[in-house]
Amino acid sequence: MTQVPEDAQSAHPAYLCRDADLAEGDVVGVDKLQAGALHGYIVTRVDDQVHAYRNCCPHAGRRLDWAPGRFLLDGRVMVCPAHGACFRIETGLCISGPCQGEALERVGVRIEGEAVWLDEQDADLP
Ligand code: FES
Repeated sequence: MTQVPEDAQSAHPAYLCRDADLAEGDVVGVDKLQAGALHGYIVTRVDDQVHAYRNCCPHAGRRLDWAPGRFLLDGRVMVCPAHGACFRIETGLCISGPCQGEALERVGVRIEGEAVWLDEQDADLP
């Protein structure tokens, strides 16, 4: 873990969000500039476990937020606004729609110092 000053945490390429800001059932979108390119992530908490995925639908590669950071949710199911694929937020598995049986690409996360961080091997860090 790279140590960064408190006020610089949000700019760190592996920082996703404050742990306290991610309530049970929340789904948030985070865009990070990593190695010169913008990468989108989806972060959620289900049964007090934090999960994160790349913000890229396995059907046609579209983002899953219909507006920046805004997702279509039906309980624990997230719906892709492009063609209606439905994903379980705790697994990333598509349970109906054009990519049924496929899954969002999961990325590793850890909670450290009251923040949620991408695991370094899953972040394209400079
Ligand atoms: S891009 Fe998501 S359902 Fe087609």
